[in-house]
Amino acid sequence: LMLAITGCSAGEPQTEESTTPPVEKTEEPVEPSGDKKVLIVYFSHTGNTRTIAGYIHDTVKSDLVEIQTADTYTDDYDTLLAQIREEVASGYCPPLTTNIENLSSYDVIFIGYPIWVETAAPPIRTFLTTHDLAGRTVVPFCTSGTSSAEASYRLVRSLCPQSTVLEGIQIRRGTYDTAYERVITWLQEIGIVELNNGGNDEK
Ligand SMILES: Cc1cc2nc3c(=O)[nH]c(=O)nc-3n(C[C@H](O)[C@H](O)[C@H](O)COP(=O)(O)O)c2cc1C
Repeated sequence: LMLAITGCSAGEPQTEESTTPPVEKTEEPVEPSGDKKVLIVYFSHTGNTRTIAGYIHDTVKSDLVEIQTADTYTDDYDTLLAQIREEVASGYCPPLTTNIENLSSYDVIFIGYPIWVETAAPPIRTFLTTHDLAGRTVVPFCTSGTSSAEASYRLVRSLCPQSTVLEGIQIRRGTYDTAYERVITWLQEIGIVELNNGGNDEK
């Protein structure tokens, strides 16, 4: 099964002086290093984080779950911003309709979210406080405007005190043209996958 190749890529010319980008999309998700079982959990309001979750899912064999909130967040930016400011200030945990029963069967759990008001979107707070990730490897990833992701990583670490939290990746607005390559490079650097065509960090 691992050797099954999708039809469109089987006939691609392989020359040493390729003009294509150094890191190309893998044909099929590869087995994670060390036979780990991988879950990707993410929250996304406008789809950016969903895109990045998809890149990870396309690269490494994994299960993918989108976190859904019981109450849908409004699409009106100003209203949402005011609401999120309050939720972040009070540490509010919005109720979720997503519950993952068999978390303990996973070794590695990716947690994806947008940066909202300088930190991880509140549904992540809910998820991490209602699911026991002790003993698991947790890997944050996020999308944002120009803010730093550090506060969100601190939040993740503080809510997963008994997990090993690996270095995350942040995809900022305006940098999606290189996002797929950076995700693959990052997945190799943190030891989730080994790919033959990677390691050629662009720029
Ligand atoms: C309510 C709200 C607050 C935000 N706060 C920040 C912020 O503090 N810093 C930042 O860099 N981006 C901020 N953003 C931008 C989002 O992080 C960015 O658009 C992200 O990619 C959205 O991800 P999504 O499409 O998965 O929902 C905010 C967006 C919203 C809607």
